[in-house]
Amino acid sequence: MKTVAQTLVGHRSIRQFKPDEIPQSIIDEVLHEAVTGTSSSGNLNSYSMVLTRDPVRKRQLYELHGEQEFILQAPLVITFCADWYRTRQWLKLRGARDNFNNFLGYQVAANETMLISQSVTLGFEARGYGICSMGSTLHAMQEIAEQLGLPETCLPITTIVVGIPDERPERRERLPMRAFRPTRNPV
Ligand SMILES: Cc1cc2nc3c(=O)[nH]c(=O)nc-3n(C[C@H](O)[C@H](O)[C@H](O)COP(=O)(O)O)c2cc1C
Repeated sequence: MKTVAQTLVGHRSIRQFKPDEIPQSIIDEVLHEAVTGTSSSGNLNSYSMVLTRDPVRKRQLYELHGEQEFILQAPLVITFCADWYRTRQWLKLRGARDNFNNFLGYQVAANETMLISQSVTLGFEARGYGICSMGSTLHAMQEIAEQLGLPETCLPITTIVVGIPDERPERRERLPMRAFRPTRNPV
């Protein structure tokens, strides 16, 4: 398995995949490592993950994601959902106020969702799998929520497709490090 540094250096978004399934044991391992190894705001664990492998369901997601071809090709699609419904249920069980039924509840959950998606990404990439994130999730948030049958205050935030890479793209450059300081005069 690659180290974190090797994984980051080797990262490329992958949009062509071999058809090979990912063994369930590897999926379980990656998800468990990510969940237990990622910080969680107030340890609320306010996210859920939906795994899609079924070709019919993948095609429904493909249509909602602007028909991006690689969603059909990749053997695994993971939809990461901000789930402050579960948090609210916990509060209810404890007789506490419904404090998270607001924008803050969404924002805390959405932040955690992005963190867990990156941890899961690193876990798969460290094992030689390729991923591509799908920002199209936000464009069809409501429709994807309905298709996945999510409860209220549980919304999809991001998605990754995962599989064995069938391409070797060049590294895509970023802005130079000096650009990552806020300034009113970026050029
Ligand atoms: C939040 C997020 C959303 C993205 N959405 C898409 C997408 O919908 N389709 C796509 O092909 N790539 C998507 N990407 C991948 C980016 O295009 C890619 O990360 C960027 O071009 C840099 O390339 P690299 O990841 O190979 O370094 C997304 C990446 C992120 C972080």
